[in-house]
Amino acid sequence: MAFTPRVFSGMQPTGNLHLGNYLGAMVQWVEMQKTHDCIFCVVDMHAITMAVSVWGGPSELPGQIRSVAAAYIAAGIDPKRSILFNQSQVSEHAELAWVFNCVARLGWLNRMTQFKEKAGKDRENASVGLYDYPVLMAADILAYRATHVPVGEDQKQHLELARDIAQKFNNDFAESIRKAGIDDGQFFPLPEPVIIGPATRVMSLRDGTKKMSKSDASDLSRINMTDDADTIARKIQKAKTDPEPLPSEEAGLETRPEADNLVGIYAALAGKPKAAVLREYGGAQFSTFKKALAEVAVSRIGPVNAEMKRLLADPAEIDRILAEGARRARAIAKPIVDQVKDVVGFLRS
Ligand code: TYM
Repeated sequence: MAFTPRVFSGMQPTGNLHLGNYLGAMVQWVEMQKTHDCIFCVVDMHAITMAVSVWGGPSELPGQIRSVAAAYIAAGIDPKRSILFNQSQVSEHAELAWVFNCVARLGWLNRMTQFKEKAGKDRENASVGLYDYPVLMAADILAYRATHVPVGEDQKQHLELARDIAQKFNNDFAESIRKAGIDDGQFFPLPEPVIIGPATRVMSLRDGTKKMSKSDASDLSRINMTDDADTIARKIQKAKTDPEPLPSEEAGLETRPEADNLVGIYAALAGKPKAAVLREYGGAQFSTFKKALAEVAVSRIGPVNAEMKRLLADPAEIDRILAEGARRARAIAKPIVDQVKDVVGFLRS
């Protein structure tokens, strides 16, 4: 089957969105929206795989879902052009995930590094959902036969798993897929990760060897999309650095993770390659560079932040957008998942 190019990606509504989410994923989404049919999802079913204390429980979740939806729109996703919805409103995700649970192998899931990181030492106490997280992610993508998935570097392994699941489904059910009239046996595409830009892995402001993350105990480690201008400037000013001035060439960043991270963030925010940033700031002290970085960060994040606030003042409108997005998403996913049921051999009325 020749697959029409289609983009799918998502974010979890747990805690604040941060600069890593914005630069690693959302900026790419806004670009891809200009050239592709795109589907962007708030993955609320993924959010509840963690302990209730992490996602906030039933009193917090609706607000978190709206807040992530508002961030998408404020960052530049146009909900008329692209499809924007929350995962739990389209039950085909969960249905396809079950079929994929029976296609994916335990050995594949045992290799997932993000599960090991998130489960930590107390693995016996992690939810089954956390273990199964990448299978649901494969279902998210393949329920739409999406071909391209723009994400940050940390999602690469999950996308390899999604490809393995697609491939094994195509192989396991090859005969049935042909009988259903798909002559080349390719029921699902092998979705491609799109991991591009100078900030595919934004690191913590406190430790250049650790990823910027929602779960870091120190709020100084990350810039939240909801931080005001003073907070952004203060966090950048406090960011860990080394005593040397900035190098003039990228090779000079190799053994300097904190410097490398700040230059990468600047480059992504200013929309320039890292080399151009170093041509401008090579030889400068961090005090000078941090001031410039704070300025560019505030000028990019400030308007997104203000627009998010404006949108969140009308929660009913966000709910309406999500419901309409879910209706459009389902119109694509339902026929595909119905066909999966036929291919597997389920009876349906
Ligand atoms: P989440 O919410 O953890 O992350 C959302 C996106 O932000 C990117 N990201 C980063 N990029 C650069 N530097 C960082 N420090 C950083 N931290 C996070 C992530 O790579 C991701 O692109 N499992 C997904 C959500 C998901 C999904 C999907 C994505 C569920 N189903 C289907 C794509 C397709 C996740 O990581 O969410």
